[in-house]
Amino acid sequence: MQIRTVPAYQEMSAIAAGMIAAILRANPAAVLGLATGSTPIGTYDELARLCREEGLDFSRASSVNLDEYLGLDGTHPQSYRYFMDEHLFDRVNIDKARTAVPSGVAADPDAECARYDALVKSLGGQDVQLLGIGPDGHIGFNEPADEFVGPTHLVDLDPSTIEANARFFASEAEVPRRAITMGMDAIMGAKSIILIAAGEGKRAVLEAAVQGPVTPRLPASILQNHPDVTVLFAEQNG
Ligand code: PGA
Repeated sequence: MQIRTVPAYQEMSAIAAGMIAAILRANPAAVLGLATGSTPIGTYDELARLCREEGLDFSRASSVNLDEYLGLDGTHPQSYRYFMDEHLFDRVNIDKARTAVPSGVAADPDAECARYDALVKSLGGQDVQLLGIGPDGHIGFNEPADEFVGPTHLVDLDPSTIEANARFFASEAEVPRRAITMGMDAIMGAKSIILIAAGEGKRAVLEAAVQGPVTPRLPASILQNHPDVTVLFAEQNG
């Protein structure tokens, strides 16, 4: 696993979108594993442009997202379902019935976790999984822990994650403390993985994930065990 470094966020986004578009062109029924956060926004902008201007066809694709805040339903502007609708699904010709985000408001969150893993399995896994990386090395919301967790599960968010994500909420107090996240089994089951990160603030954690020991204390380091990971780093963010 090597880091491909480019100067600009725009270039990183275009490369990631181009890789996803190539997978979709080769297999119009591809299963796309998608991510939220500020980093993938440029990738989604470019995918929307490719759909609009170059006819990239999402009509037979399916998607699965990594995670969702517990307690937020899809109409909440900070929910990840809302984010995906706004930044991608409402801008391309994907069938929304085939887009999956874990429900943050399921009556039985444990049953929702099991349902989600069964869904990913029934789709045959992701042809490609897009990932960001958190300041603590998380992927999805798999936070630093004593062990890697395989199944989709409930997590307590790390204080650094709550602080990092407070910028999207009116105040830090409003950031949900818990989330549902795809676990390492479904992430590592993807046929290919694209990890994107931008800005000098992410350089050290990215290098540690790629070059350091594989440890659940730095969850992204598990990607060293996957045979097809592309790591894209943009020196400038935005
Ligand atoms: P960011 O978040 O893209 O907003 O930096 C990445 C992450 O937390 O996975």
